[in-house]
Amino acid sequence: MNDKENPIGLFDSGIGGLSVLRQFIKFLPNENYIYLGDTARVPYGNKSVATVKRYASECTEFLLSKNVKLIVVACNTVSSVAIDIVSSKSNVPVIGMIIPAAIASIRATRNGKIGVIGTRATIESNAYSKTIYSITKNYTSETNESQNSPEAININNKLITVFNKACPLFVPLVEEGLVNHNATRLIAQEYLEPLKSENIDTLVLGCTHYPLLAQLISELMPNVTLIDSGEHSAVAAIRLLGEKNLLNPKFDTVIKIPSVQFYVTDIPSTFHEIAKMFLNFEISTPEIVNFGN
Ligand code: DGL
Repeated sequence: MNDKENPIGLFDSGIGGLSVLRQFIKFLPNENYIYLGDTARVPYGNKSVATVKRYASECTEFLLSKNVKLIVVACNTVSSVAIDIVSSKSNVPVIGMIIPAAIASIRATRNGKIGVIGTRATIESNAYSKTIYSITKNYTSETNESQNSPEAININNKLITVFNKACPLFVPLVEEGLVNHNATRLIAQEYLEPLKSENIDTLVLGCTHYPLLAQLISELMPNVTLIDSGEHSAVAAIRLLGEKNLLNPKFDTVIKIPSVQFYVTDIPSTFHEIAKMFLNFEISTPEIVNFGN
């Protein structure tokens, strides 16, 4: 394989990153993929920053050993607290979840009130708020003319305010398949109420599991634009691979089964069921990787 045909490597704390992989397959169907889910140590969202950094470092080394051409940090928690470790270890480009979704949220908002929901670690890191504020602070009337940089976002001098809310119960509810359950609706109402009362018009789904709750969230917040971090990172990857001349030129005219090699650190009993819920297609039994603990 030459560089262009090398796989794109994605990693996540577990199965949730498959929602990101799904977006990549949708936008970049001709690419080869390697997906690593650290299912033995999930969740990362309530662990310390030091621990998440250590785990992220091991996942990065694993993907690099597979000769990936791009690393996608398909986990909002890792993207929030450990992207620096991933980038410093990598000799290939790295895409995380935060910057693409932050830019999309600034583009989407009309009233300047952006909500962000995520795991405790993501929200406590303030990664989204910091990124959104730093992008909008860079805005000046001169840079507004430039078309390709984040500063080009036409915010029309809107004042942006970010409202954060950790929603830790969403991950287990989704993994239990309770996406359409009344209990989930009640918990979502409780979590989203403070954001509703701030009159946000844009909400960043800052966790891999939350796109599966998009319909419910839209019902509870009908006029709010939802930003799927996986979708925007996939769009960012098209641009990045194009700029670096790394898009895979080989493609089949017939619709093919996506080319993905799956690796996990454990196979929980519900693995296949949950994987199908995230990906919309069945996957074969993944290979087990052992990182110690
Ligand atoms: N993948 C994680 C995220 O996007 C959610 C699951 C976890 O807490 O590890 O933040």
